[in-house]
Amino acid sequence: MAKPVLLVTRKLPPAIEAEAARRFDATLNTADEPWSTDGAEIARRAAAIGAVGVLGAAGDRLDAACINALPASVKIISTFSVGFDHIDIAAAKARGIIVTNTPEVLSFATAETAFTLLLMAARRAGEGERMVRAGAWKGWAPTQLLGVTLQHKKLGILGFGRIGRELADMARGMQMEIHYRDVQRLPAELEKGAIFHDTDDGFLATIDALSMHVPGGAGTRHWLNAARLAQMKKGAIVINSGRGGSLHDEALIAALKSGHIRAAGLDVYDGEPQVNPGYLTLENVALLPHLGSATEETRQAMGDRCLQNLTAILIEGANKAPHQVV
Ligand code: DGY
Repeated sequence: MAKPVLLVTRKLPPAIEAEAARRFDATLNTADEPWSTDGAEIARRAAAIGAVGVLGAAGDRLDAACINALPASVKIISTFSVGFDHIDIAAAKARGIIVTNTPEVLSFATAETAFTLLLMAARRAGEGERMVRAGAWKGWAPTQLLGVTLQHKKLGILGFGRIGRELADMARGMQMEIHYRDVQRLPAELEKGAIFHDTDDGFLATIDALSMHVPGGAGTRHWLNAARLAQMKKGAIVINSGRGGSLHDEALIAALKSGHIRAAGLDVYDGEPQVNPGYLTLENVALLPHLGSATEETRQAMGDRCLQNLTAILIEGANKAPHQVV
């Protein structure tokens, strides 16, 4: 029997590409050419090969125009990401196209990235690294690059889902006190003593560091704005490894310049890969290139999830995929 035709929009780990080619009649993007960020090109290529499945990724422009231009043969879009804010879910639903993602397997790695940024921001690691590389380090000094300790500080986690809770476990190891803000309070076994806040202002006024773990989209757009930053304690730290659009860049840059916010750490950006140039000249912000889930183990596991979802729908004929969003 002929294998189902699959379009893969990005270069994936070699073992995943090999398995995709074994199970499917797969067209790969082995050179990672940039056509994958153009929705029209994705639709054109899917039509050219008569794809029944599209294995896409975070950053692919799977907007309504792309989805509406996909050939009628497409049954499933499997995204190599837990986030699906790059996919127009309503458009997919209207066309009866299944959308799947890769939950759970990247929670620890993404929390590690948030924790890396938290330490970098608190301990001025980016500044120190730049100083050494620039040959500007004159030797140890009692008052050089003094940061703040995380021990006994209050960490505020916005969005206490799987990633937020992994971060909480790491932060407990640093003897931090965990606070969280979410739409509702979680059961005690998930809270593990973390303190729930039912208002933004009470939450923001309490914490010493904020780590943001909310999905992108209109509901959270610019959540951290000038008014909410003003509610935070002077000298607090801001970390964002969720989605760039959930904070207002100009407001954060102003707060970093005034010192109201001591330091920030960012892994995601509004309109990435563009980065607001205001950050680039600031010493008190650590900037990473969306490394959240970037470990060998995690990317392999994400690929396995994608293949599992595609196999269920396209080979086994299941009605529902294991990690189906819509
Ligand atoms: C995701 O999976 O949504 C990440 O942001 C991509 O690493």
